[in-house]
Amino acid sequence: MSKDSQTQNAAAAEPISVIIVGMGARASIYSTVALTNPELLRVVGVVDVNAERVEQARIMFNLPEDNCFSTIEDLLARPKMADAVINCTMDRLHVSTSIPLLRHGYDMLLEKPYALNDEEGQKLINCVQETGRKVMVCHILRYTPFYRALRRVIATGVIGEVINIHMVNQVGYLHESVSFVRGKYARAEVCGSGMLLTKCSHDLDIMSWLMGNNVPTSISSVGGVFQFKEEKAPEGAGTHCLNDCQLERECPFSARRLYIEHPMRWSNNVWHDTGTAPATDAEKEKILRRPDNPFSRCVHRCNISIVDHQSVLIHYQDGAIGTFTMNGGASTPRRLIHVTGTRGEIYGTFEDECFCVRQIEPGAPGGYTERTLDMSDFQQGDAHGGGDRSIVLDFVALLRGERISPGCPTLEDSITGHRMVFLAEESRMRGGAMLPW
Ligand SMILES: NC(=O)c1ccc[n+]([C@@H]2O[C@H](COP(=O)([O-])OP(=O)(O)OC[C@H]3O[C@@H](n4cnc5c(N)ncnc54)[C@H](O)[C@@H]3O)[C@@H](O)[C@H]2O)c1
Repeated sequence: MSKDSQTQNAAAAEPISVIIVGMGARASIYSTVALTNPELLRVVGVVDVNAERVEQARIMFNLPEDNCFSTIEDLLARPKMADAVINCTMDRLHVSTSIPLLRHGYDMLLEKPYALNDEEGQKLINCVQETGRKVMVCHILRYTPFYRALRRVIATGVIGEVINIHMVNQVGYLHESVSFVRGKYARAEVCGSGMLLTKCSHDLDIMSWLMGNNVPTSISSVGGVFQFKEEKAPEGAGTHCLNDCQLERECPFSARRLYIEHPMRWSNNVWHDTGTAPATDAEKEKILRRPDNPFSRCVHRCNISIVDHQSVLIHYQDGAIGTFTMNGGASTPRRLIHVTGTRGEIYGTFEDECFCVRQIEPGAPGGYTERTLDMSDFQQGDAHGGGDRSIVLDFVALLRGERISPGCPTLEDSITGHRMVFLAEESRMRGGAMLPW
């Protein structure tokens, strides 16, 4: 298709109509595209068990009452009323909510992880194959200039054949404590996922994407809880930061220090997840002082059932190796990557928005050449480097039959990365056993 006819098609095309299912934090981000680009995306309905969030969406998108639902069943009782659904429910609901919606004829932008395990994932894959519906999984990092450029450099062959990809996800202590220790991801029985699946499925997806057609042959993983456990509570620590802790003034995890004195340090998650919107510090303190407030609990006494550090080792078909480590509670959030090839290497940090390419060159000083690729002009400043918006635009393009990005994470294309996580988790639970692909 020529560029001109593509532009004409885009101009002639109707906006894609969507129903938001699960109007929480993620859906609020994706759905803003409907406000900034109404010619591309229109929100025509909402489903959420939380009446306040339904009301927020009703006002934000000017929805008729009839199009606001408290259950998926109520939506399914109506004939298909939109092109697609944006499914941003929590992890454990992804498959059970997606299958009936796909069968009802909706295409879908589905939050990761697409399933909790291989068996559940297969049910979704079967449903998509049977219905022919289009499903994209929200691997937003594939849309960031950093990883895109890195993938292009590997594809040019300048570093030769890839021998090793080493990746590290340093989950900063602010995010770690609010989401994974005190928050809704702390217990796999509640959230559905473990830490690797919910936080690091992006990283293993990126590794799989960079490895291209090279598939894993075996995986092993070890991990556990190192610091967010009872035995690591220092002497004098209480159970609740504001009510009984002698160390509150010096503890880096003090709820008062993080959520009142420094409100930019993830306190929004606290108010979002507790459904409160305190205006003053006194109100905040009153809410945090409640004995049952999960966000004021001592981080060592939250009884988490997920890991706080984990490493994964992946063998690939051609002999290459991938290694991935997650450290929860790091001083700063960082995603590091080091790709080693037969003719050079690439290393960089996502948050620094640049990476370095070194090539073997016997004639050069030191025996190598080096250049730095700076992505800071392209990375769009938000936590996901512009990926949140770009993925929605790609979803619209996919549904309108327009040109999609080369990294478009269709369900099929997301399978390898997810299976790497499923297998790694099985290995970890079996004490690090090397499991065949
Ligand atoms: N792609 C990413 O980078 C990224 C980042 C963070 C979270 N996530 C994923 O996004 C998903 C949503 O996370 P969030 O932070 O927006 O969660 P959230 O808790 O803010 O939102 C979930 C919403 O689903 C609603 N809900 C619960 N049960 C429901 C049901 N049966 N039917 C309809 N709605 C229901 C809740 O009331 C809530 O409003 C999770 O799966 C999470 O792992 C992805």
